[in-house]
This record gives sequence, C-alpha cells and structure tokens, in this order.
Amino acid sequence: MTIQENCPAAATNGERATLNYQGKPTDFPLRHGSIGPSVMDIGKLYKDTGCFSYDPGFTSTANCASKITFIDGDKGELLYRGYPIEQIAEYSNFLATCFLLLNGELPTNEQFRDFRRTISMHTMVHEQMTRFFTGFRRDAHPMAVMVGVVGALSAFYHDSTDISNPEHRRIATNRMIAKMPTIAAMAYKYSIGHPFIYPRNDLDYTSNFLQMCFAVPCEPYIVNPVVARALDRIFILHADHEQNASTSTVRLAGSSGANPFACIASGIACLWGPAHGGANEAALTMLQEIGTVERIPEFIAKAKDKSSGFRLMGFGHRVYKNYDPRAKVMQKTCHEVLDALDKRDDPLLKVAMELEKIALQDDYFVSKKLYPNIDFYSGITLRAIGFPVEMFTVLFAVARTVGWIAQWREMIEDPEQRIGRPRQLYVGPSRREFPL
Ligand code: SDX
Repeated sequence: MTIQENCPAAATNGERATLNYQGKPTDFPLRHGSIGPSVMDIGKLYKDTGCFSYDPGFTSTANCASKITFIDGDKGELLYRGYPIEQIAEYSNFLATCFLLLNGELPTNEQFRDFRRTISMHTMVHEQMTRFFTGFRRDAHPMAVMVGVVGALSAFYHDSTDISNPEHRRIATNRMIAKMPTIAAMAYKYSIGHPFIYPRNDLDYTSNFLQMCFAVPCEPYIVNPVVARALDRIFILHADHEQNASTSTVRLAGSSGANPFACIASGIACLWGPAHGGANEAALTMLQEIGTVERIPEFIAKAKDKSSGFRLMGFGHRVYKNYDPRAKVMQKTCHEVLDALDKRDDPLLKVAMELEKIALQDDYFVSKKLYPNIDFYSGITLRAIGFPVEMFTVLFAVARTVGWIAQWREMIEDPEQRIGRPRQLYVGPSRREFPL
C-alpha cells in the first residue's frame, strides 16, 4: 500500500500581506492551496508584534495544510481527495473510500482485494476486552462505553504504538478501522443483554457490522442488501470532513505523541457533543418531541427566540452556508430505506420534511444560512434500520474513524507539525501578594 508522500504545506509564491501595528509594518507570507482560500502565515506574529491572533472557535484559522478533504461551504461542495461526495456515495463503497482517504487514490481491484483481506484479519478484539463491558451498567450510554473500550485498545497493542514507525502506524490504522465496528456492535449487544456476535470475514464491511449488531446465536441472520447498501453509503457520508471539532481533537492529541488508540478515543469523546456528532441523536429526539406537523411553528418560534436556548438540531453548520451536500444524499437514502422496509409512512419523516420546508422559507433561517446538515435525516434512517437513538453517534464514530486516522497520519508525517499549544488573551487579576 503506497502511503501518500509527506504532506508539504502549500509553497508560498513570494506574495506577502502587510499588517500595520503601532505604526510598524509587519509582513506575513501568503500561501495558496490547490483550491479554496489562501492563508496568511502568521507564525511570526507574536515574535514580530508581541500580539497573539484571537479567533475563538477558529472561524478564520487554518491549523494545517491537508490533501485529504475539501469543503466549499458557499457552494455546498465536499471532495474526498478531489472526488465529489455525491459520486463516491453513488459509485463506490465504504472500504474503498477508506483506502482513498488513507492513500490518496482509489484502489485498483487488486489493491482493494488486499486491503479488504487485511482489514478482515483484524476484525476480532482480544477476548479479554469483553470483560471491560461488564464494568458498565447495561443502560450506560454506548458512547461512554466506546470512549472507554477504544482507549483501552492501547493496552493490548504495545506492538503498534510507536508513532514514529510507519509500520506501526499502518498496523494501528488497519486495527482501528477493522475493530471499531466490532466494538460498536459489542456496545449495542451489551446494552440489550444479548451475547456478543463474532465478526464474519465472509461478509463485506457493513454487512458484517449489521450481523454483529442484529444476529442472534439461535438462528441465521440474513442481511437486507438494501439496508446494507444504505448503511454503507451513510458510512461514506460520515467518513471525513476536514478539520471539524473531533478531527481537530485527534490531531491535537496526536501532536503530543499520544498513541493512535488514545487519540481516536479523544475524537469519540468530542464527537459525542450535541453540537457535533451528537446532533443526530438530538435531531431525532427533537423530531419525536415535535411529534406532529401541527406543532412545528411552536418549535420554529423557540429556535428563533435566543432566550429559549433551543436550536433546531440537524440545522446549521460552521462551514456550509448552503445545503450540506451530504444531507441531500442522506435524504435520498432515507426514502430508499423507508420504502425498502415498508416504513414510508413514518410520521417523523413527515415532520422532518415539513420542518425543512417551513424553515427554508423562514427569513431567520434564510438570513443566517441555516440549512439541514448531515444529522437531520440520518436519525430517521438509522431508527428505521433498527438502531436505538443512543447508537446514532456510535455509528458516526465508526464511519469517522478512517477520517480521524487519515488526518492523524497526515499530521504525524507533516514536517511542519509540532505539538499544538494555543495561547490566550489573559483577562484575570494582575500579580498580587498572598495575604499573610
Ligand atoms: C456536525 O464541523 C463539521 O464539519 C461538523 C460535521 C462533521 O461532519 O464533522 O459536519 C458534523 O457536527 C454537523 C453539525 C451538527 N450540529 C447541529 O445540528 C446542532 C445545531 N446546529 C448548531 O448548534 C450550529 O449550527 C453549529 C454548531 C452546527 C454551528 O455553529 P456556529 O458555526 O458556531 O454558528 P453559531 O452557533 O455562531 O450560529 C450562528 C447563528 C447564531 O445566531 P446569531 O448569534 O448570529 O444571532 O445562527 C444561529 C445562532 O443562534 N443558529 C441556529 C442554529 N444554528 C445556528 N439557530 C437555530 N437553530 C440552529 N440549529
């Protein structure tokens, strides 16, 4: 498997931006990417001006140069290694997308066969890991279980935690991608009191995950091909998304030299938040709370009332100021799954579609460019497939693991990257002597 050469940050072409501060001009090199906004390299800002830049939430800050994923929020465009998400979702599969994100190119048939066999050889977890689950209450949120169990993986794989060793990085990558579905399925089975189901290497990645979740030892389990294809596409949609909060968490954790399993556990913890990956669970809960089309105006009014603290979950995005391209594919997939499972009359789908229609005609949402994001339709689809709402963000984590790992590897291999250590604007008390 060829690994993309080190990711050299975009070269500067000599252009510079000048900042005038306290009457003194300071120049900063401009750097241009292959597409998208250029950057002003302000690495010397503090040294030259004595000032820090200030950008809570990093709305205007690039933390790295990357070749993996590109988002144009105004156009509503998402590219994985240059390929539009809609085309990948339509013509590829999740494991081939993993290969693409990790290596920069789509796999040949032979490369795909090798990669699939490699991943299959790592799908089991150490049998002793089953004991971690019994330490949790059965009603523990599965994301809590995922953070704990994935973090514990490093206790079993001392042979692949030397991050400076490319071979260790490769093995850890394959282990993470292969074992996440197994651990996620175990978290679900534990929550319902079912026995764990072992992986089946004769099945493709997503079909294997479905059987580990929904098979029982007492009878054969037949994978529904429409559901398997839909879930595989949902995994593709969630695989990577540039420098989102959980990916930035993984990069920051990795910048200290932490082992990859611990870094992925930190990404899972961050993804859990309702403003991020937890929004799919929160969006479905919101639709259930709305309940009927008649109550939509009441919730739209609440979302527009700042004092309510309520937001339409599954709406809005830091980058997309147009329709999230994944949400369009998600909506289509939602209809396919509900049709295939004869659940097209799901009342929540009616509420979701009417809520979207009303919101997209409302000045508040139009003026703030709030469109449905990937989390808006995913919950209805996952519930129809049979997953409880608590598992929605776990599925997001299963899919996003490849993005986290690809970005983590790129960070490790980027000669420009060093430990992340932001500064602050201090607004606390000046020095004062301790009262004796
Ligand atoms: C994901 O970053 C990624 O790429 C994430 C992700 C990925 O793949 O990794 O795409 C996955 O996390 C998708 C987002 C899922 N989250 C939600 O659906 C939760 C609801 N949405 C939000 O809370 C919000 O829109 C965010 C968190 C997604 C974006 O927040 P921002 O960019 O910080 O925007 P903001 O909070 O400053 O909001 C801007 C304005 C505010 O009003 P004003 O202060 O300008 O008057 O829009 C309002 C907000 O009050 N607003 C909403 C709203 N989202 C923003 N008002 C009502 N409902 C909403 N959902």
